[in-house]
Amino acid sequence: NRYAVIMAGGVGSRFWPVSKKSFPKQFHDMLGIGSSLLQMTYNRLEKIIPSQNILILTNEDYTDLVKEQLPEILAENIVAEPAMRNTAPCILLAALKIQKRDKNAVMIVAPSDHYIQKEEQFQKNVLDAFDFCTKNQNALMTLGITPTSPNTGYGYIEYVKDEQTVHKVSQFREKPDLETAMQFLAAGNFLWNAGIFVWSVDGVVSAFAKAQPKLHMLFSNGQPVYNSNQEQEWLEENYEKAENISVDYAIMEQSDAVYVIAAEFPWSDLGTWGSLHSELSTEKESVALNNELVEMDSSGNMVRTKTIDKVFLLGMEDVIVVEDGDLLMIASQDKEQNIKQLRDRAMEKF
Ligand code: GDD
Ligand code: MG
Repeated sequence: NRYAVIMAGGVGSRFWPVSKKSFPKQFHDMLGIGSSLLQMTYNRLEKIIPSQNILILTNEDYTDLVKEQLPEILAENIVAEPAMRNTAPCILLAALKIQKRDKNAVMIVAPSDHYIQKEEQFQKNVLDAFDFCTKNQNALMTLGITPTSPNTGYGYIEYVKDEQTVHKVSQFREKPDLETAMQFLAAGNFLWNAGIFVWSVDGVVSAFAKAQPKLHMLFSNGQPVYNSNQEQEWLEENYEKAENISVDYAIMEQSDAVYVIAAEFPWSDLGTWGSLHSELSTEKESVALNNELVEMDSSGNMVRTKTIDKVFLLGMEDVIVVEDGDLLMIASQDKEQNIKQLRDRAMEKF
């Protein structure tokens, strides 16, 4: 049986001041189309996975937001993490919960904050991955994206180029430095890791047992109470003991049973205001979300407001203007990677 785990516990700090700790990116309608990224993620998966088999893992601060945005999800399928420990603990916990319900399950792990177009292609790729992992119980499968720049914020997947749909991965490397990323790009047989994984519950639990025995021991100890009304109490007492580590470092870099399908759908992890801008328009055009924008001698701007209806720009190029109630940020697009630091400085001050 197929299951899905949606990870919705991140903070998305480069989208400050809209995305913030109290209301992260995945809960926002970032594209201005009437659904949040989380709702879009759920809708995409719900077409190929029964709703009662979709779990949402999130920080306990966000469970109310999840319930509000996805009222169709069963309460017992929303898991509240008492601490932020990155993706490995959350995925292992989810796998053990699912394993307890269904020993033969296969599952997809999906981030909640990406923008995916051509959903039918996405669904086809995922169904192929499910099929492969049903037949190959120890396979760890990921979806790969053809890289367009030596971005150091992604995992890189070296694969064997052949005519198959599913390729064997020879190397998985999480967030390489720039020089290494440039070599990978030049080599031509690397894909970006989309952060979307498919595997059998048995396969992923075994991979954790092998590569992360401490983490595996911690969460296996809780398995007898998972899916019962003692689960939350157990999590409150034990979750914070887990090591803070991402699934990429924890098992993907360690395993020799990694496989990849090259994604046939347009994908963006919407990492920054600039990437949102390029999803919504060409480089030269400005984007206005939630406001009427009047410009003179201006281009390439990204303007998002919450309470201000009309914005006027004169002689501005490639500028990010974001208003969120009592916060206003104006940033140059080529400095957008540092918005995290700007946020930190703002937090210190206020
Ligand atoms: N439940 C839960 N708990 N979710 C979490 C947690 C957590 O503690 N931490 C992060 N997440 C969620 C985020 O909301 C996001 O949807 C997803 O897990 C991935 O976390 P990120 O923090 O965004 O990871 P990343 O962008 O640095 O790197 C990952 O994604 C890249 C593609 O976007 C890696 O898998 C890379 O290899 C990959 O290229
Ligand atoms: Mg990310």
